[in-house]
Amino acid sequence: MTVDLTTPTLEFPIPAGVFAQSVTSVEHYTDRLFKFRISRPDSFRFRSGEFVMIGLPNTEKPVFRAYSIASPNWDEEIEFYSIKVPEGPLTEHLQKIKVGDTVLMRKKPTGTLVNDALLPGKRLWMFSTGTGIAPFASLIRDPDTYEKFDEVILTHTCRDVAELTYGQGLVAAVKDDPLCGEFAQSLRLYSTATREDYPFKGRITDLMASGKVFSDLGVPPITPDIDRGMICGSMAMLHDAKVALEGFGLAEGSNNRPNTFVVERAFVD
Ligand code: A2P
Repeated sequence: MTVDLTTPTLEFPIPAGVFAQSVTSVEHYTDRLFKFRISRPDSFRFRSGEFVMIGLPNTEKPVFRAYSIASPNWDEEIEFYSIKVPEGPLTEHLQKIKVGDTVLMRKKPTGTLVNDALLPGKRLWMFSTGTGIAPFASLIRDPDTYEKFDEVILTHTCRDVAELTYGQGLVAAVKDDPLCGEFAQSLRLYSTATREDYPFKGRITDLMASGKVFSDLGVPPITPDIDRGMICGSMAMLHDAKVALEGFGLAEGSNNRPNTFVVERAFVD
């Protein structure tokens, strides 16, 4: 099938300050999760780990929501992960997009899950639940992450085993990729499921409290001398993971005050 990606015909005018981009691929993982890619505007620059506001051109006043960019900053396309909310004002329509459709993207990316917001360290922990893995999908494909840290551990916790597959596929693809594989040797994925049987079971916060995540991975407990953290998930998870890291002596940083961990709050109402 040939798809014309250059000239979308739109019913409504494109709002100011917004790119209108074509969908280049869509992949559905479960009935709750999917991934899609759009073409990248030539002038669009971002730092791996940042998010943008996206919407659909289906009304005069489109609904925009914050989405982490899941692709690295060198990629020629832009990738996103999304949940499917049955009555969600955006995802209800977004989950039906097809190759060749138009997605709107505001021009300014931003966010705190960037390497520059962390002080130098040896081991980087990326804590994610559900689609909170998206900014890390970007960062684990950026060579800068491995230049800054000797070891990178991505933790991903979901309710069901099926929801863990995209993180596993992603890490396997990163390690297999001729370009990323070379620098991503130190990357490790720790997947846990909370509502189904799985070799690693439970919330990451509980596994930190019990020390099981450290013994499973064969690393010492987190310390501010060595470890750095990034957190992305639901509001409750952000709170509990932040408390856990503070318990290990880490302190929250930001773009203008780098410290030993950072939290992304953009997706929280
Ligand atoms: P649980 O199944 O025990 O609620 P959700 O789909 O609701 O965003 O949840 C994604 C994953 O995050 C689930 O495995 C869920 O575990 C876990 N989770 C939810 N709340 C917290 C929290 N406060 N701290 C750590 N993990 C959490």
